[in-house]
Amino acid sequence: MLVTGATGFVGSRLIPTLLERGHDVVALVRDADGYDAPDGVSVVEGDLLEPETLPPAFELDGETVDAAYYLVHSMDGGPGYEERDRNCARNFAEAASAADVDRILYLGGLGEDRDDLSEHLQSRREVEHILGDADPALTTLRAAIIIGAGSASFEVIAGLARRLPVMITPKWVDTLCQPIAVSDVVTYLAGVLEAPDTAGETFEIGGPEVLTYAEILRRTRRQLGGGLRIVRVPVLSPGLSARWLRLVTDVNPYLAQSLVEGLRNTVIVEDDRIGEFVPIECTSFELAVARALTESRNAEASRLAAIPGVSS
Ligand SMILES: NC(=O)c1ccc[n+]([C@@H]2O[C@H](COP(=O)([O-])OP(=O)(O)OC[C@H]3O[C@@H](n4cnc5c(N)ncnc54)[C@H](OP(=O)(O)O)[C@@H]3O)[C@@H](O)[C@H]2O)c1
Repeated sequence: MLVTGATGFVGSRLIPTLLERGHDVVALVRDADGYDAPDGVSVVEGDLLEPETLPPAFELDGETVDAAYYLVHSMDGGPGYEERDRNCARNFAEAASAADVDRILYLGGLGEDRDDLSEHLQSRREVEHILGDADPALTTLRAAIIIGAGSASFEVIAGLARRLPVMITPKWVDTLCQPIAVSDVVTYLAGVLEAPDTAGETFEIGGPEVLTYAEILRRTRRQLGGGLRIVRVPVLSPGLSARWLRLVTDVNPYLAQSLVEGLRNTVIVEDDRIGEFVPIECTSFELAVARALTESRNAEASRLAAIPGVSS
């Protein structure tokens, strides 16, 4: 099977699980030299914005792959990401159709179309429609915040919780969200591949609790050993929130701001049919956050230990 976004937060965690379950994996990456491929993975260098680089990624040992995961977004690149993501999805859909792949599996965003979705969520939905128009059957999983070290949306939350004992926030802190642990997302992604009846279907996935963002921030900060006072203000201008985010998170400022704009949209599971196909007991919010914070701390310690002259 083909995994795009192999270097990303979700893709890099999905590949070892697919290998453990006995699947053969091709990873499409933009920079093969900078990618530390797990043993057994076949690497193809290509860019979704360069369609001529894509056909080799759909082949393994001379045969067409059965399925292809689409785990890509290009918000890191700043303004214009909607057009880039549209082009990436179109090129991928055309290449998958031409290769005669059976299935495409996409991880998109939760949220109801009727709810005036943020630009980011609209763009994720547009990608879903483009992939759905391709010949292979599409399976979509829609998720809200995925909790794990390196998840842009979780890093924004953790950055805010880590640095601010008092937070002046607009009304979005009262929006409802259903965050999910990355380990559960990976189980669902691998699970739908192994459940052929999920071809052509869209599923919503979420963790065991529906929480407001205020509660998510409070509980995350509690795990970091602090309390949190939230002061609500009716409006926080986009310029001010952008400056504020630059101060408190390490996430790419444009990406962080686009994600924060999406916090006004309720993102909860209204259809839980996924449980019929991939029955799992989802990880609690507390455990998911504890694992993510531990992984972040360990990664930071390893990063510091690798700098000459710095010891912990
Ligand atoms: N993280 C969350 O909380 C969350 C929540 C809901 C849904 N999702 C969805 O999950 C999927 C994966 O997200 P993520 O959090 O894993 O993102 P991520 O960590 O930012 O990874 C994005 C991946 O896309 C690749 N990419 C970008 N532009 C590309 C191009 N032109 N050609 C080929 N590859 C390209 C990047 O490769 P490079 O290494 O070359 O940059 C990277 O591997 C997305 O569809 C996202 O909407 C994520």
